[in-house]
Amino acid sequence: MKDVKIAPSILGVPCLETPGVIKKLLLDGADLIHYDVMDGRFVSNTSFPIEEFEYHKKNVDSNVIFDVHLMTYDLVDNIKKYSNGASYITFHYEAIEEHKIEDLISLIHFLNVKAGISICPNTDVKVLNPYLKDLDLVLVMSVVPGKGGQSFMDISLDKISYLDNYRKDNNLSYLIEVDGGINEETSKLVKNRNVDILVAGSFIIKSSDYKTQINKLK
Ligand code: DX5
Ligand code: ZN
Repeated sequence: MKDVKIAPSILGVPCLETPGVIKKLLLDGADLIHYDVMDGRFVSNTSFPIEEFEYHKKNVDSNVIFDVHLMTYDLVDNIKKYSNGASYITFHYEAIEEHKIEDLISLIHFLNVKAGISICPNTDVKVLNPYLKDLDLVLVMSVVPGKGGQSFMDISLDKISYLDNYRKDNNLSYLIEVDGGINEETSKLVKNRNVDILVAGSFIIKSSDYKTQINKLK
């Protein structure tokens, strides 16, 4: 099985502890830090206002790869704010009118950030076809976005295979990431489908031994 990258989600880690947790995660084998931004409207919870991101960013090495997952309706403003520090910014297909998607991808690229789109479990993956050639990453949600600790939905598996076949057939190089309910068992299912990045929140963060948990996923 090919190597996957691990992106721990630090949702729920108390603000002041976050820089220390990020440092430890990276020492223990994490590749990216998945940063779940929630606006209380696209999803009912709120998380990581820009002030917290500024604080976290300033208190970790500048080479940390922040993988920002925007679960927000206000995309232009958030893309501008989080671009200062993010390596990837992913927004939701469901959060924006279709005719604005190309411009948002261009804005992210203009700000020198890699661009991703995410789809919720009940969204058909084929809606992404027109955008796949321009994307650096596609984030397949394997839970309904909004909170950690939910069970993996296997409706995500065929979407991952579709995206993998599409990129082979069209000679594209976007990464495929999966987010929600990833643990030792479900990680095997998605790795079989050729996923590139696993997001895992509870499975890693709830343990006191990040290294063992990360190794179980790899
Ligand atoms: C859900 C978030 C996820 C979540 C993952 O809305 O996007 O990143 O925190 O947490 P687990 O791994 O616990 O499902
Ligand atoms: Zn996420």
